[in-house]
Amino acid sequence: MSASGPPPPDGSSWSHGRTRGPGLASGETPKSPAALVGRDRELARVRELLEAVRGGLTGALVVEGEAGIGKTSLLAAAEELAEGFTCLWARGVESEAALGHAALLELITPVRDRLADVPEAQAEALAATR
Ligand SMILES: Nc1ncnc2c1ncn2[C@@H]1O[C@H](COP(=O)(O)OP(=O)(O)O)[C@@H](O)[C@H]1O
Ligand SMILES: [Mg+2]
Repeated sequence: MSASGPPPPDGSSWSHGRTRGPGLASGETPKSPAALVGRDRELARVRELLEAVRGGLTGALVVEGEAGIGKTSLLAAAEELAEGFTCLWARGVESEAALGHAALLELITPVRDRLADVPEAQAEALAATR
């Protein structure tokens, strides 16, 4: 599994508070960062990104790997490290593949009341995803 992607240039962030958990399948337990085995490098990347964002940058990490390798667990640990941030989750669902913007809709629904916090053009585009 790899986590990659440099923090892009400056940008604003909307933060504070949490919305939902990682949506692990039933029976799965989210792992705290300390409980993850062999993920020091990936967690270091997550911490670096969070530090950059706290410093006013934006950024992205791509987490990829085969099923069961620990992607969701790493993301759950990342959420735990992201104290003070709003964490939004979306899952790819095969039956929704034909629906345009299904994942985007899932992402923004919990923060729809904060669309006024983003620039007008983006707010309008996001508001259209109903
Ligand atoms: N680094 C890790 N250390 C210990 N257990 C792990 C680790 N990563 C994943 N697991 C465990 O392996 C299982 C599959 O992990 P999961 O995060 O659901 O994988 P994925 O999302 O890539 O399919 C879960 O039971 C999870 O708790
Ligand atoms: Mg998963």
